[in-house]
Amino acid sequence: MEFNTLKQGLNSCLLCHDALCTKACKNGVDPARIIRALRFENNLGAALRASECCIDCNAPCIDNCVIKGSVEIKNIITDLLKNKSNEKYNNSSLKTDICGIELENPFLLSSSVVSSNYEMIKRAFEMGWAGCSLKTISMIDMEEASPRYNAIKGNNTFTAFKNIEQLSEKSVDENMEIITKLKHEFPNKFILASIMGRDDNEWAYIAKRCMDAGADALELNFSCPNMTAEETGSDIGQVPALVERYTKVVTSSVSIPVIAKLTPNVKTMSEAAEAALRGGALGIAAINTIKSITEDRILENITNKDDPKYISVGGLSGASVKPIALRFISELSHNEKLDNMHISAMGGIYNYKDALMFLSLGAKSLQITTAVMEYGYRIIDDLLEGLSLYLSKNNLQMKDLYKINNKYVVETKALKRDFIIYPKINRSTCVSCGRCYISCRDGGHQALEFIDRKPKLNPNKCVGCHLCVLVCPTSSITPSDKKVSK
Ligand SMILES: Cc1cc2nc3c(=O)[nH]c(=O)nc-3n(C[C@H](O)[C@H](O)[C@H](O)COP(=O)(O)O)c2cc1C
Repeated sequence: MEFNTLKQGLNSCLLCHDALCTKACKNGVDPARIIRALRFENNLGAALRASECCIDCNAPCIDNCVIKGSVEIKNIITDLLKNKSNEKYNNSSLKTDICGIELENPFLLSSSVVSSNYEMIKRAFEMGWAGCSLKTISMIDMEEASPRYNAIKGNNTFTAFKNIEQLSEKSVDENMEIITKLKHEFPNKFILASIMGRDDNEWAYIAKRCMDAGADALELNFSCPNMTAEETGSDIGQVPALVERYTKVVTSSVSIPVIAKLTPNVKTMSEAAEAALRGGALGIAAINTIKSITEDRILENITNKDDPKYISVGGLSGASVKPIALRFISELSHNEKLDNMHISAMGGIYNYKDALMFLSLGAKSLQITTAVMEYGYRIIDDLLEGLSLYLSKNNLQMKDLYKINNKYVVETKALKRDFIIYPKINRSTCVSCGRCYISCRDGGHQALEFIDRKPKLNPNKCVGCHLCVLVCPTSSITPSDKKVSK
């Protein structure tokens, strides 16, 4: 069941807090919840909530929308009903584990501002998050810059997010209180204590304190790219000998599982991961943020010479880093030396489809920050429901997903190169814009002609690159079923 056509226009919904559309409904329908489910790809969950009473309703939800008339709530729900299937889905179990310790579902808050104090984490746990990696605990005095965030936006959402934040501003004692209180109140939630030291003594001391306070496991932050202190964070993650050394210091000081959080600011991650394994780590968490510059200030400074603004390198996260994160998780998951290590994946997870990608490449737990910063803890609703309904619909269990995609991720040299898959043009849905023609002419192989405002393929020139498929704004060009030998 796909609702792609009706999803056009959904992006204008602002996903309000305490939404007025839902408040206006007299029939007990929750349009805000339905639209949120669709926005987070949980189409089945949205359909389950759609109600027949919307069809003949005079739609006070639309009148009360804060951007009146921009979101076609009634049409969206009516379309959803047309596509509604009668299938019944069970809630499949989402149970997994981290290094043998049971997790009620794979979703954890990742170490960052979203898991920085007791009240926040308590609220997240009550909403369904299975655990959290606490904001990194250290003995370094934190002095943070303002502002500290920047985002690249598109389609009403962050495509990428940049931060220059460092670690927890709370003392070790304050953080221990948080761990103890949370573990006492939520014994079944997973508390991963993220830590960072400046030398052997600090690593060992903080690790022991976290274990004594009740943490289930430790996550060693070898990956923050924003540290002002020398030889900390990603400076460690880029040197396998240091990763091994500090991991060993920690694993010989505690009896709880230790996970190394690694930096993507390297050519490959295996060297550091194998070093963590030699140091006694039972798992790898990845990725931390990617060093980047995103600022609009670059442009502003060109003309604003009187008050130029500083531009700094910071860590990139969010949707744009997901392909890079998937590549690193795949690398770790294919490395046989790391076979018994837990992989806790993160980087751009927003919805259950993102989650499925990481789970099918060998991750057993998933961590999230940027999507929570943008949309709140409530994203857990559609992560849990979306994943559960997907498993149930496809008759799969969590364990079936594990590495299911590994055999299909191959080096480019393993791909067959003796055939062409030509594009297929649907002339009836083609709107005659000529975008395919322009791209093929200037960025392809001049295999399309534009005759009477319709594209025409020349198979003698087409190499089957599929640039036309990708640029067509109306999906009127698709890969054909035929593989033609070269
Ligand atoms: C504002 C912010 C603060 C962060 N602070 C930490 C931190 O203290 N420790 C850490 O290990 N990672 C930190 N991270 C990295 C995240 O835990 C995560 O690895 C990264 O953002 C990728 O996941 P995402 O795309 O879901 O945000 C931070 C990320 C952001 C955006």
